[in-house]
Amino acid sequence: MNKHLSHLMKLRDEARLGGGQERIDKIHNQGRMTARERIDLLLDPGSFEEFDMFKTHRSHDFGMADKVYPGDGVVTGYGTVDGRLVYVYAQDPTILGGSLSETMAEKICKVMDLAIKNGAPVIGLNDSGGARIQEGIESLAGYSDIFLRNVKASGVIPQLSAIFGPCAGGAVYSPALTDFIVMVQKFSYMFLTGPKVVKSVTHEDVTVEELGGADMHSSKSGVADYAAESGIEAVQYLKRLLSFLPQNNAEAPAIIPTLDPPERRAEQLNEIVPDDSHKAYDMKEVILATVDNGDFFEIKPNFAPNIIIGYGRYNGRSVGIVANQPASLSGVLDINSSIKAARFVRFCDCFNIPVVTFVDVPGFLPGTAQEYGGAIRNGAKLLFAYAEATIPKVTVITRKAYGGAYCVMSSKHLRGDINFAWPCAEIAVMGAKGAVEILYGREARLTDDPAAFLQNKEGEYQETVANPYVAAQRGYVDDIIEPARTRFRIIKSLEMLRNKHDSNPMKKHGNIPL
Ligand code: HXC
Repeated sequence: MNKHLSHLMKLRDEARLGGGQERIDKIHNQGRMTARERIDLLLDPGSFEEFDMFKTHRSHDFGMADKVYPGDGVVTGYGTVDGRLVYVYAQDPTILGGSLSETMAEKICKVMDLAIKNGAPVIGLNDSGGARIQEGIESLAGYSDIFLRNVKASGVIPQLSAIFGPCAGGAVYSPALTDFIVMVQKFSYMFLTGPKVVKSVTHEDVTVEELGGADMHSSKSGVADYAAESGIEAVQYLKRLLSFLPQNNAEAPAIIPTLDPPERRAEQLNEIVPDDSHKAYDMKEVILATVDNGDFFEIKPNFAPNIIIGYGRYNGRSVGIVANQPASLSGVLDINSSIKAARFVRFCDCFNIPVVTFVDVPGFLPGTAQEYGGAIRNGAKLLFAYAEATIPKVTVITRKAYGGAYCVMSSKHLRGDINFAWPCAEIAVMGAKGAVEILYGREARLTDDPAAFLQNKEGEYQETVANPYVAAQRGYVDDIIEPARTRFRIIKSLEMLRNKHDSNPMKKHGNIPL
């Protein structure tokens, strides 16, 4: 037996070395971790159970018979994060650049199938040059098998991706199908084709950083949710994100008991909205003042900052928060902010996470750039997402809720369950200035002092229409609340809505304006 055991140990040690010590040293010298080190960092100590450590590729062409590594280019298995079951795979850049073989795809599909059947999140730690070029169609078939599982798992279990190195081709499409992507600054890249191909096709000179770096994807394309400063921070990000999510779509997120009293007042909120309604304030302060212990986990902080999305807790319960940000572009809704928030609301709806929405929005951004970019179709995404969501929805209008943006931002009419407004709220079809110019422009020009005439009308419009009381009279807002008591009112509402059941008409699926 000892002979067999020592043989097994030898094979295991060999597999643990991946592409060999030399390549591991190279990775380390670049300041990167190996696949196994990344898994160790993610999972609770000693919890990892590995599958398919001895599985190898079956390819012979292009000298591949001499490049056989036990386990091939991915480490797969399951373990726990803070005691919760997760399935994990980590591509190994020391083996043929982590490029995807048919065998690797089979290993990844195995953990994905188990994750779906057992209702636990799947976490992919990606570092791969894409389809293994030597294999051709087998590798493409393997990718397609993974994509299919990503789609089947969507809305069933949370799927999280970290990008640790250069990822190209198929290696970026699987993460793109998952729910969240974190990248690592200066180390990770995502692109369909690298700079050389770009140069030959479009004659553009572009660096890897510009083409697919973490900063670009987390601020311009919106492909990544966060650009971590290091691999360690990326793993911490995944763990913290996971803490707000349930295991699957049949469960609710864990309750984290808090010492922060539900009735805690936030006096500063009575003063936060400036008297001049053209002046900005920071909506993050409203969020931080109301959530448990001021603990807010922001998603996509650098992409479309005119809308804020992220997770917090109210009296221990996880909620998704969506908020217009008056401190960025006056909180206007545009293409990117609509898409950002729509996807977030849909994720929360998939996974039974209530959504709290803070509204201060002057409307949709006008102009040709927006119209040519499909502002109508993209704005409709957010409207669609809020309307179809059946999770508890609590809305607080802190100041402006104008025009179509009023309708979109979790209004009563889109099944907002509880809708509050602060006393300074302005709810109307459009801002007073624009409205009186349309209504009284001609009349004003006939007077001696058109400006004074319009100013007077503006005041009238503000008093008559642009306040929260008209909406309250109709029941479109349930109550007008003291800002300092917002936390308490949200918590009471969420507790009241705890057993909410709502549904949509039977259908295969809706047709969101993609
Ligand atoms: C086979 C690959 C490979 C690949 C890298 N390697 N990518 N082997 N297939 N796709 C191998 C290299 O030959 C090298 O082997 C080792 O991995 C490390 O690669 P380097 O180039 O030395 O590393 P680095 O400088 O860090 O560059 C990483 C890289 C680059 C940016 C990912 O390797 C690269 O551009 N690879 C090709 C990317 C690509 O075009 N993929 C698209 C595939 S098509 P040795 O033996 O020398 O160590 C695709 C289609 C699917 O994915 C579409 C589905 C929708």
